[in-house]
Amino acid sequence: MPPELPASALYASPALGRLWKKVHLARSPFVIRSGVRRLYIHPAPVLRKLLSGKAYHWIALGCADGLKESLLSRKIPAPTSFHAADTNPTLARMAALRLRAPVKSWSRIDLTSQRLPSSISHLPRPWLVTLFGVLPNLDALPLLQSLHRSMKPGDLLLFSANLAPGKSGLVGARKVLPQYDNPLTRRWLATAALRYRPRLPKGHLEFGVFPDPRQNSLARIEARWISGRRRIVVFSSRRPTPTQVESWVRKVHLWILGRFIEPHREEGIWLVAR
Ligand SMILES: C[S@@+](CC[C@H](N)C(=O)[O-])C[C@H]1O[C@@H](n2cnc3c(N)ncnc32)[C@H](O)[C@@H]1O
Repeated sequence: MPPELPASALYASPALGRLWKKVHLARSPFVIRSGVRRLYIHPAPVLRKLLSGKAYHWIALGCADGLKESLLSRKIPAPTSFHAADTNPTLARMAALRLRAPVKSWSRIDLTSQRLPSSISHLPRPWLVTLFGVLPNLDALPLLQSLHRSMKPGDLLLFSANLAPGKSGLVGARKVLPQYDNPLTRRWLATAALRYRPRLPKGHLEFGVFPDPRQNSLARIEARWISGRRRIVVFSSRRPTPTQVESWVRKVHLWILGRFIEPHREEGIWLVAR
């Protein structure tokens, strides 16, 4: 199993955050396909039913600058407070500025920790937690487990997953590989690799689709740093099928309240509760 850079190493500095944003604006299906943008407002009717009349608190995890949250916020009742948390606090601050709520805050967070930090876990309930675009980069089971531990009955979690279209994860992931293997994404990832400390040996990037080292049947798009015979995973994007996503949800004892999948079946959103 080749060693891996933590996902946060690709986003944490202001410069890398800006480079990621360039890639996002040029290549992200959310920006270039209206069907994917619509996906992010599909949960609105069910959320309106669940949230209307409630003084709820919105916690946006790994939200970057909050573009997706902002789109959804126009279709659901306003929260009493909005908290944006990301490994990149500059982006989290932008998200908090973008959203409308009487009380707003932001923080740096490490979503690979076992629990949410007390600055978040002490926020009043009920919560609407959103987790958009994060599961591809991080190990899904530990993250969902940690959220389950932090949530209480009445809290809601709305998360997105990048899916492998079709029945076979590996075949589906190969179809979407060009979304990643392109000059702009290479520039972002190569910059992150060159800035990483301790320094990586001289090398170059290669993209491919591999089985996830922790779940063999799960397809993972990887960008690997190749240096002689050494391989270091710089970037990975997990591409589960909807069945795999739902098996994670069941494993961590969360309940599925809603599932929304965009027409190309490359991205889906699940609404779950404790
Ligand atoms: C692919 S981007 C998605 C951003 C945004 N939510 C969206 O869907 O467009 C992944 C986000 O997760 C954040 N992230 C990556 N690793 C993280 C970690 N360990 N803890 C907290 N946030 C992390 C990044 O800073 C980035 O904003």
